[in-house]
Amino acid sequence: LLTPPVEPVLSGKRILITAGPTVEAIDPVRAITNFSTGKMGYAVAQAAQAMGAEVTLVSGPTALATPLGVKRINVTSAGEMLNAVMQHIEEQQVFIAVAAVADYRPTTPQLHKIKKQQQALMLTLEPCPDILAKVATLPKPPFCVGFAAESENVLEYAAQKRLAKQLPLIAANLVSIAMGGDDTQLTLIDDQGQHALAAGSKLASAHLLLQHIAAMLAENR
Ligand code: CTP
Ligand code: CA
Repeated sequence: LLTPPVEPVLSGKRILITAGPTVEAIDPVRAITNFSTGKMGYAVAQAAQAMGAEVTLVSGPTALATPLGVKRINVTSAGEMLNAVMQHIEEQQVFIAVAAVADYRPTTPQLHKIKKQQQALMLTLEPCPDILAKVATLPKPPFCVGFAAESENVLEYAAQKRLAKQLPLIAANLVSIAMGGDDTQLTLIDDQGQHALAAGSKLASAHLLLQHIAAMLAENR
């Protein structure tokens, strides 16, 4: 992919990014997961690296290649993703949560395969930890950025999430445009309001997002 020359506006910054889905085991052969290719998170990692950042990518299962120069840590479940993030968070200046983390997981994954039967199967699910909310409420949190992929009321829900999770910045997009594809359109919401970015490739959108982050960091917002 050809990209224009990039200013190293993030040089010296350590950035931790989550990407991809998480997979929560029901039994040894079945799982609950989210639809996510990981493309947006990997684009953010690639763009941040190109802008001079030292990038760690905590990734759920994807079919994507690791962007050049990026340190990748593979995880499967939300619990593993939380552990990997917490292990590395202390030295980070920026945390960008792009992962589609499962919201619920089976309370007790079965050790052996559940045999199918004629009647309905009931599963008991418990909430997964909210990784972004946990990082954002650490005593000395890094600059935290959320993603909100919504199917309706995008900007309203995204603005609510930004406040609920105490984030300086959230990027909102519509799942019908973004899911699975190479293109997206992000609207950023920060302390000054909404900023609609140009529609384009996920990589181009990632560059615009990171430029906005660099500007906010420079202004200490
Ligand atoms: N997120 C996270 N850990 C979770 C759930 C979400 O880190 N267990 C992060 C996502 O990576 C994203 C942001 O929180 O940056 C918003 O995720 P989203 O699924 O849109 O919001 P939720 O708070 O989970 O609410 P809901 O799914 O009900 O819309
Ligand atoms: Ca969710």
